[in-house]
Amino acid sequence: MKTPEEATTLQRTVKLKASFEDQKPGTSGLRKSICKFSEPHYLESFIEAIFQTLPNVKGGTLVLGGDGRYGNEKAIQTILKIGAAHNLDRIITTTNGILSTPAASNLIRNRKAIGGIILSASHNPGGPDGDFGVKVNGANGGPASESLTNSIYSCTKELNEYIFLESPNVSINAQGEKPLGGMIVEVIDGVEDYVMLMKKLFNFESIKQLLNDDFTLIFDAMNAVTGPYAHRLLEQLLKAPQGTVINGLPLEDFGGCHPDPNLTYASGLAELLLKKKKYSFGAACDGDGDRNMILGKGCFVNPSDSLAVITANAHFIPGYANGIKGVARSMPTSSAVDAVAKDLGINCFETPTGWKFFGNLLDANMITLCGEESFGTGSNHVREKDGLWAVLCWLQILSKRRLSVAEIMKDHWQKYGRHYYSRHDYEGVESNVAIALFDRLEKLLPTLIGNQFAGSIVKIADNFAYTDPIDKSVSKNQGLRIILEDNSRLIIRMSGTGTKGATLRVYLESYVATGGRLDLDPQEALKPLINEINSLAEIEERTGMKKPTVIT
Ligand code: G1P
Ligand code: ZN
Repeated sequence: MKTPEEATTLQRTVKLKASFEDQKPGTSGLRKSICKFSEPHYLESFIEAIFQTLPNVKGGTLVLGGDGRYGNEKAIQTILKIGAAHNLDRIITTTNGILSTPAASNLIRNRKAIGGIILSASHNPGGPDGDFGVKVNGANGGPASESLTNSIYSCTKELNEYIFLESPNVSINAQGEKPLGGMIVEVIDGVEDYVMLMKKLFNFESIKQLLNDDFTLIFDAMNAVTGPYAHRLLEQLLKAPQGTVINGLPLEDFGGCHPDPNLTYASGLAELLLKKKKYSFGAACDGDGDRNMILGKGCFVNPSDSLAVITANAHFIPGYANGIKGVARSMPTSSAVDAVAKDLGINCFETPTGWKFFGNLLDANMITLCGEESFGTGSNHVREKDGLWAVLCWLQILSKRRLSVAEIMKDHWQKYGRHYYSRHDYEGVESNVAIALFDRLEKLLPTLIGNQFAGSIVKIADNFAYTDPIDKSVSKNQGLRIILEDNSRLIIRMSGTGTKGATLRVYLESYVATGGRLDLDPQEALKPLINEINSLAEIEERTGMKKPTVIT
């Protein structure tokens, strides 16, 4: 058998069998069951389409890695061989292919790569019965633009064959450079560059002192990619005690868990903090390390509030001490950060759901911080949301302010008022049922304007459309919204990332100004809105579901 260095024969496969009709990549690239990905030529065809579409492949450098889920290493080998056949100059991958999404974004930028391929289905379950995904990032380190994913999709429809280099697998279990035909496979430690970036942004000494002073911390890596990063950052560098990081070994099936850091899927951690009140601070990240959940003793920090708190306290973080240019949030995210932006005299942009919409604003230096209600927070340091970065932001703020998480929240609401907020997800709804519900509601919207709704009057009722301020591209159909005169908001949209049936998301927000009741349970505070939207949209009647599958 030839060694990888000798393997220069270009092999062409037989005609393709994989079809991508109805497989249009969504906001997160191609995300499907592992079963689908195991179909002959399926992964290969998609990768071929990426290499035919991505600019500057020949002679370029590509970053490649994933969250370690079932299929990760096998897919890496496949991509290396197709990449070599397409005359890439270099593929940078990591030991055992473990690379978090924000770390990949950082590497693409640092190494001036043409882009990256991240193998992950984010927070979806993994293992032989779980999901797999291929995410394409561009040269700025961010998720591929809609036009690029559309071109990749068009290309899949034209393909007849794919090319790859016939070669044995390249060993990626140790660092080093290995030739594969005319291409170099550079295997690096996937944690190092990311840690260097965090050291530039944060004052580790002050966090170390906090951890030394009667402050207890627990981090749940959910058996996914952030384990090695958190061990290095929290235990080795910040000297948190061994055992601070739980579920810290990336497993192919995430130990059977659903690696989504929210109150439902990280309920064990939530119980430790919220019921048993065992730690000063707790956090968790998702499968590929871009999402975060922040908890204090007896206190859950809503992600929309987390973005607002980080913005209001950014001057305590060295990387942002010189001020922030502006902020952005996805449309369904609560307006908590808007209040802070107003106070700071900076712009606040409202974008459609999906991190890619922040890319142009970040690249144009119009915003510094951004976030989504779906446990995503980030900044201009990379072009992805970043779970551990958010954890470090909180630790840095706590190290300076020396208040508990609950006190920080209380203080924040006393200054800005409170945006009560919740998201109700109805998962696994039959697609035609969800579409019919949605279409009916959309048709009803114009009739609502000016009418009574949950104790207020409907001011705006439409389907959100966004014009990108930089490239002027228009994204329509981004979610139905009902905005009331008291600034309460109701949003309904269909998930673009679910893989089983349709997921209906209902977002609820109501504002209570300083001086009002700031200590209510959000579900209580939002009750009138919940009842009104449930009956207007006929949710139970049409889906047969008495309550949402996930409430956050
Ligand atoms: C979900 C979130 C969205 C996030 C995306 C990728 O998308 O709602 O905010 O950007 O995952 O993490 P959805 O399933 O709602 O389309
Ligand atoms: Zn993710």
